[in-house]
Amino acid sequence: MGSSEMAVLQGGFAPVEREITVDLTDIEGEIPRDLHGMHVRNGPNRQFAAPGRYHWFDGDGMLHALRFDGGRVQYQNRWIATQSLAEERAANGALWQGIKDPPRRDRPDMPIKNTANTDVKYFAGELLAMWYLGGEVHRVRPQDLATTGTLAMDPRLAGLHISAHSKVDERTGEFVFFCYGKEPPYMHYGVLDKSGMLKTLVPVALPGPRLPHDMAVTRNFSVLHDLPLFQDPEAAAAGRHKVMFYPELPSRFGVLPRHGVASDIRWFEAKPAYMYHVSNAWEESDGHGGTEIVMTGTPFKPQHDARGQLDASRLPRLIAQLGQDCMFYEWRFNLRTGQTRERVIDDVLNQEFPIINSAYLGERTRYSWNTLMANGAGPEEPRFCGITRYDLQQDSCSSYHAGMHKWFNEHSFAPKDQAVAEDDGYLVGFMWDALASRSYATVFDAHDVAQGPVARIALPQRVPHGFHATWVSRERLIRGW
Ligand SMILES: [Fe+2]
Repeated sequence: MGSSEMAVLQGGFAPVEREITVDLTDIEGEIPRDLHGMHVRNGPNRQFAAPGRYHWFDGDGMLHALRFDGGRVQYQNRWIATQSLAEERAANGALWQGIKDPPRRDRPDMPIKNTANTDVKYFAGELLAMWYLGGEVHRVRPQDLATTGTLAMDPRLAGLHISAHSKVDERTGEFVFFCYGKEPPYMHYGVLDKSGMLKTLVPVALPGPRLPHDMAVTRNFSVLHDLPLFQDPEAAAAGRHKVMFYPELPSRFGVLPRHGVASDIRWFEAKPAYMYHVSNAWEESDGHGGTEIVMTGTPFKPQHDARGQLDASRLPRLIAQLGQDCMFYEWRFNLRTGQTRERVIDDVLNQEFPIINSAYLGERTRYSWNTLMANGAGPEEPRFCGITRYDLQQDSCSSYHAGMHKWFNEHSFAPKDQAVAEDDGYLVGFMWDALASRSYATVFDAHDVAQGPVARIALPQRVPHGFHATWVSRERLIRGW
């Protein structure tokens, strides 16, 4: 095993073996009394070591929850009881290798293990754990993090794989999703209503198989991603996995009404780029009687060669190394003219994992709290070194960097009781102190992240670094959707 493989199994990345539920009492600062609800973060935590090479994305999904209740907080962690983990537990050993090794040819239903380790959202009274390559969506009970099954699939979705980064509209309770795959039309888009009924399903014809990671929604529209970074078709035909960047192709964004049909999709072209994460999207008047769809996110910065041209191999190499060299960016898709305008919001700070107040999903948002990424982190060892708060109205940002050896995770925005403004609340998440070898829960005042956490709560065991988080307010837990 090489050092790069070791890195994501050591220190703050090392998996934990125990599932615990504990009231936390070792608190620096004060937990806000007007904070009620639940932060949940998904991430990899492998149970059985497989032969071969380990990649950070391979670990079995584990949820880590913080339940806040008027100044008190409880921590709980639990594996997502996926079908693959059940099979491995029955066999008392690994049955799948990681993504760096060949998939299982004897399991056409699951050649690569669906770990459910990527994303988590609250929908129809349950947590949904989703996987970035797309697969069965696992349902988890918010009260005790017990996995209760998988999301019932309408027969029309047979053979389709719901991706991570599906969206939940808290106003309507709808679940807006996309699926992508290797067979034409290569993408589907759909909407479940708040009871889980499939209301909309749209085949989205792409020029070939693509690797979209996210999508965007506004109040009335959805935005689908077709980006010029995908598997080299010749290599794929030869059975090899080789991802390439095609700088001669544009980025394409498909805009359609939330409940539209395939013929409604309008494709907007933009500069070639690859991105993982959207911050938000919304509708604005273009000042001439038309509508602009505005989308913000954190694409990779252009990777140039020595002659200043976009380099086809640097970006896939960076991505394969889990390197981060990203900026905050805005696209505007004009529905009247069909034109795209785009601009850098900030390419000074290296940043990813943008979050918003999720109650404002699809509405014009003034704020985005993005995660600062360390430059020059070790290969396959992404490091989240702080949080920055953008104010798009003031065109300003302020940041918190805790110094060396303190690494964050994606936080969630938690509105305070009786919140009025978009940023009335807190950022809640986990932090790993590498010097103390200890994990903490951190609570920031969302108005002022630069002052550092208002509460830092020691955890009795490590929370291994992971991926996405969500906030579920007490109101939504009581409401049940
Ligand atoms: Fe993601």
